[in-house]
Amino acid sequence: MLQNDLILRAAKGEKTERTPVWLMRQAGRVLPEYREVRAKMGGFKELVKTPEFAAEVTIQPVDILGVDAAIIFSDILVIPEAMGLDYQMVESRGPWFEKTIQSLEDVDKLRIANGVDDLHYVCEAIRLTKQGLANRVPLIGFAGAPWTILAYMVEGSGSKTFSKAKRFLYTQPEAAHALLEKIAQSTINYLRAQIGAGADMIQLFDSWAGILSPEQYKTFALPYIAKITDAIYTHVPVTVFAKDAHFIRKELGALTSCHTVGLDWTMDARESRALIGEHKTLQGNADPCLLYADFKTIEHGVAEMLNAFGPHKHIANLGHGLYPDLNKDNVRCFVDAVKNHTW
Ligand code: CP3
Repeated sequence: MLQNDLILRAAKGEKTERTPVWLMRQAGRVLPEYREVRAKMGGFKELVKTPEFAAEVTIQPVDILGVDAAIIFSDILVIPEAMGLDYQMVESRGPWFEKTIQSLEDVDKLRIANGVDDLHYVCEAIRLTKQGLANRVPLIGFAGAPWTILAYMVEGSGSKTFSKAKRFLYTQPEAAHALLEKIAQSTINYLRAQIGAGADMIQLFDSWAGILSPEQYKTFALPYIAKITDAIYTHVPVTVFAKDAHFIRKELGALTSCHTVGLDWTMDARESRALIGEHKTLQGNADPCLLYADFKTIEHGVAEMLNAFGPHKHIANLGHGLYPDLNKDNVRCFVDAVKNHTW
């Protein structure tokens, strides 16, 4: 069926002819072609909510960068919105919520999102993308992990410390658990709808994992991730990316319903393999800033990364998303270097 299913086979732990590669934030401002489509729309949310255009920018990196998978163009913040907490994407500043969650009463007012109805525009974008891809490469669906979503709903915007969100965990643990439960249920509905619409694999982004203590992570983050992965893993391979959370790699290795563990660039490949175990696929983890360097340095960095992970059970990627001011040719050089690597 799929002409290139390298990434699915790698995620399932099968041997592959070469290491598959895709990039977090591959659909976005690094591509002039994206910026063109984006300029035609009123704003970021309009683009996310117009399935024809969302599908177009999803497919762009497959054509332009030659990656082995597409990731659906959307945002993790569509979940708070579907639960009743609206946000705006403020130009060059990031997300902003007019209302935030401060108490159990606020949590009680939120709805549990129904993926098929509340997020029908994402499902439609997935269907259109699958048509446009015509079985060339798999399509990755995604969602934010519950702790990261809670962080935005309580904090109301991005933050260096997310101290309001962390304060919520310390001062109102019951409300925090009630909110995490609602987010987890909404996310399960949403991811099932994405899979139903055609997503071939799923990634959970826990972007703010690293600001919790290990104990807090085990209490407020990991159980809800497990709940979600348990609910979906029989259908498609699942990746969990807990950025900056060195301390939780061993536990992620023990998460039975997760196929792939995403690593950021500060996590050593061999040490991570030892902590996580042999049965999981690892994803990552070049420093996005490597792509500011010249081609020779990029190729050297790629070879070092691939040699550290070895030829199997590895999906090449960066340790976080592409920065918008990276040069597209350098990004392409990274992708080509992975594809041309000889062992
Ligand atoms: O190519 C892809 O990776 C698919 C699309 C995608 C976007 N956001 C599009 C986007 C994905 C997978 C995300 C996930 C996401 N969104 C995360 C988790 C990954 C991570 O980066 O840690 C987070 C934390 C968000 C929330 C978010 N969305 C922020 C903080 C911002 C503002 C910062 C920024 O990069 O501008 C966004 C906006 C956003 N999401 C853009 C894109 C392409 C840029 C907005 C634009 O084009 O106008």
